Amino acid sequence: MNVLTPRILGLIVVGALTFAVSAWLTTESTTQLPLIPNGQWRATNNNQALTPPMGWSSWNAFRLDINQDKIYAIADALVATGLRDTGYKQLNIDDGWWQKRRMSDGRLQIKTENFPDAINAQGQSSFKFLTDHLHDMGLRVGIYSDIGRNSCAQFWDKNDDNLPEGSVDETEVGTLGYTQQDMNLLFSEWGFDYLKLDACGMKHYGRIPLWLRGIAARHRSLSPASDSQIHQRYKQLAQAIARTQKDITFSICVWGEANVNAWGSEVGNLWRTSADIEPNWNSMLHNYESAVERELYAGPGRWNDPDMLYVGQGDFTAKYFEQARTHLSLWAMMASPLILGNDLRQMSPEIVDLLNNRQLTAINQDPGGHQASRIHHSNDHDVLLKTLTSKKGLARKALLVFNRTAHAKIINIPLTHTLLLESMHIHDIWNDTALTPANNTLSVEVPARGVRLLMLQGEHQLGNSRFLTELPGQVHIAQRHQNVAVTASGKALSRFGSVADGYRQAIAVHPNSLLQWRVEKGARQFKSRLAAFSSMNAIFPVQFSVYGDGRLLWQSKKTANGSTNALVDLDIRDIRLLELLTQSSSNHEDIQSLWLDPTIEFQPQLLR
Ligand code: GLA
Repeated sequence: MNVLTPRILGLIVVGALTFAVSAWLTTESTTQLPLIPNGQWRATNNNQALTPPMGWSSWNAFRLDINQDKIYAIADALVATGLRDTGYKQLNIDDGWWQKRRMSDGRLQIKTENFPDAINAQGQSSFKFLTDHLHDMGLRVGIYSDIGRNSCAQFWDKNDDNLPEGSVDETEVGTLGYTQQDMNLLFSEWGFDYLKLDACGMKHYGRIPLWLRGIAARHRSLSPASDSQIHQRYKQLAQAIARTQKDITFSICVWGEANVNAWGSEVGNLWRTSADIEPNWNSMLHNYESAVERELYAGPGRWNDPDMLYVGQGDFTAKYFEQARTHLSLWAMMASPLILGNDLRQMSPEIVDLLNNRQLTAINQDPGGHQASRIHHSNDHDVLLKTLTSKKGLARKALLVFNRTAHAKIINIPLTHTLLLESMHIHDIWNDTALTPANNTLSVEVPARGVRLLMLQGEHQLGNSRFLTELPGQVHIAQRHQNVAVTASGKALSRFGSVADGYRQAIAVHPNSLLQWRVEKGARQFKSRLAAFSSMNAIFPVQFSVYGDGRLLWQSKKTANGSTNALVDLDIRDIRLLELLTQSSSNHEDIQSLWLDPTIEFQPQLLR
């Protein structure tokens, strides 16, 4: 008797459909749930990369042409040039290291032609010899893989001799299908400390028909993944890494795509904000732009990554010293990873000195982890201001003036924009001189395509208080729809029309977003004015709420376009996590909710 009657078949089909729909809804809803301020810090919390990673990666210098001798020589150069001791301790092997995946047990095999010592005593392919050697030299060691079945070079460098070899299955060296096995191998067995995880395997092998690219016979295609699938896949990998219980820095490489700018800081320690950098001025500028206004997303353990440095190559060699110094200074100010990409075996002394400038690396590595804010932007020049930890009770900031033009320029900066009192002490880092302002204005001559980098130290204009906008490293934007959150100061506030008149600083977020602030020790009072702004005059009221450790502390009335005039003024001495929520019935990106002059008052002796 046939048990599959039409009725039973029908039930099976309906059941399967219900299951599929609910499974789909569950996956989608993980990113769609309304944000509930529950007192839990949502940013990456794996205690890694508490300051931006510094080191070297094989990609920009060697592409796939890597081998054991070169890696050893680079490690020796890191030590001999003093770079390791300056802080460049991370040595990363990028694409090109693998021979194939062994089909009998799925174990990844290393290209032993290039890494002859990778055959261990048991006849197994292993990188332990290399990580042991480099760890003994005081370095940390990184490795590269992909979230899909294939790597980026298998797509872009399809005729290179150093690609994985063998059958279609054997050349599937990416992590898909082998997630936990690969993480165990790389970290528990081989001893790497850092993973750069690319996304070509899920983004490229289906986007353009493979036969058109001439690689159809060599690789299976994979339907293009949605942004939320890419997000989920990176989360899976983060969980698999966590299961190894090793201290691993997790670098996400999806080039600013798949909405990573919104979720990167909750999944990894750094995430690329743009396409690959190239060794030319325009590419450097493009990558700089991709990260420079994202200071609210960075902080200890989570960094915007505008890609590796090209200092010492192309437009950034000693011949173009000014440009090299600009590139490095911009990355340092943005609290970006400082991952060198040049051939360290052949560096000019000028480049070695530049990279070894400890005043510069100290700015990048400041433990506060505050990415600079761009306090002025025009076609000609930018001004960046980065909060550093205070010393001897004095506030400290790094100020960078960047001249984009091809001519030297005199640039004037009103001292009040620094938020320090005029009596401040100003030191020019590259010229090693003290500067004296006149008429409350700092006037500096900046070389063509060059920078002036100044260290400021003095009393703060707010005495024992700070604007929250000055401490972006303590802020995390846990946000539902848009990933745009900006700080604005000085003239930039005018973009919010009259609602911002009379204010000096603002954090602007789209409604339905949650901003978390890890209350620093010694903070005792939080104050802010509030406003909603829409350039289209949209009437979608916004409501502001403040939660402390998951408890509602304060709520505003709903306000449409304009200032509520309401003042939040809260004692936060017992609060560890403050959450600022803005809600509206519309997610329209034209609407901004503004926290105006958000200010924290500190107990003087505890001010860092
Ligand atoms: C991608 C990445 C690069 C590099 C290559 C390796 O293009 O963005 O940084 O890792 O893959 O194939």
